[in-house]
Amino acid sequence: MTPTPDRHRITELDGGHRGAAVELWHRAGLTRRWNSPERDFDRAVAGASSAVLGVVDGDAVVATAMVGDDGHRGWIYYVAVDPDRRRDGIGVAIICAAEAWLSSRGVAKVELMVRTDNDAARLFYEALGYGRQDVVVLARWLDAPDES
Ligand SMILES: CC(C)(COP(=O)(O)OP(=O)(O)OC[C@H]1O[C@@H](n2cnc3c(N)ncnc32)[C@H](O)[C@@H]1OP(=O)(O)O)[C@@H](O)C(=O)NCCC(=O)NCCS
Repeated sequence: MTPTPDRHRITELDGGHRGAAVELWHRAGLTRRWNSPERDFDRAVAGASSAVLGVVDGDAVVATAMVGDDGHRGWIYYVAVDPDRRRDGIGVAIICAAEAWLSSRGVAKVELMVRTDNDAARLFYEALGYGRQDVVVLARWLDAPDES
């Protein structure tokens, strides 16, 4: 599969893109009530070893990938393509850009999480060469969200 960087120019998003990026994340079904997407965007953009990459078309953000180097592995979150622009290679382009961003910082291996019911995303990543790992993801809240 060949990425198409000319048609899908990818840049690092800044605070001015926050509203459009969050709107895309809502449309793409990526938001959850226990995460603030605005806070997630702000933290990634402000971080020294993280960023939100995106394809911008006018006022709209049509694709995103959040990248972060944790000092060992590289992680990708919030991968989204506008529902009206899918199956046109934009997803491949944004993942290639995310991998290049991480690789340029010395990251040797990229990791990401896919919800078990998200077969479309799993097939997408498998088409890009990503493989299932023999691990279980464990987590614990350090600052539990207010569920009231
Ligand atoms: C997953 C997603 C990012 C793919 O974006 P996209 O721009 O449509 O992907 P591409 O056009 O680059 O697809 C590349 C290849 O991935 C595979 N693929 C993509 N979407 C697929 C789907 N829905 N079902 C099966 N395979 C798929 C195909 O092999 C495709 O190549 P083809 O179109 O030549 O058959 C997009 O569907 C999306 O935003 N989904 C909702 C958000 C989401 O689930 N994000 C992942 C969170 S872990």
